[in-house]
Amino acid sequence: MNVLPRTEIGDPLLRKKARRIPKAYLRSQAFKDLCRSMVYTMRRSGGVGLAAPQIGFPYALISMEMRPTRSRPSAKGKKPLIVINPKITSFSKERTSDWEGCLSVPGLRGKVPRARKITVEYMTAEGEKVTENTSGLWARIFQHEIDHLNGILFVDRIEDTRTLMTVREFRERVLEKRKKRKV
Ligand code: NI
Repeated sequence: MNVLPRTEIGDPLLRKKARRIPKAYLRSQAFKDLCRSMVYTMRRSGGVGLAAPQIGFPYALISMEMRPTRSRPSAKGKKPLIVINPKITSFSKERTSDWEGCLSVPGLRGKVPRARKITVEYMTAEGEKVTENTSGLWARIFQHEIDHLNGILFVDRIEDTRTLMTVREFRERVLEKRKKRKV
């Protein structure tokens, strides 16, 4: 399987609203192959989420997975999930700020405020309708990825642009510090 080519910030496709996926498409082999390629591309690129517009496909499709990564070594594991036509139906008033990066914005990290808890409705790859209440990192990934379906990038959500860092600085100043704190 190949890593799919990714769109990057500046590509107008990342600023468009994604189209809904018709339920009939779920049964096609092309759709099943696309889902597998998305999960594969997400993993190989070191991401915890990937939205279809990021691989040049302007439809409301996301793959997500939680696992420890270099940036989040303490993240809990959660199996890959395919999310179709999602909609966030409620956001908690309480917000938390945490570091985010994006495969479409290579080399940058910044602190993004997000709702701590959300309720999200979506369809699974099997066509099952799901309503999920979630919080923490999983809720953050949902919000980041669903933003992609509305043409919004994490840099648009940053309130203090002075938190923006290159990955090199982030590793040195944030990750190394975290490690030292644990010792
Ligand atoms: Ni992203």
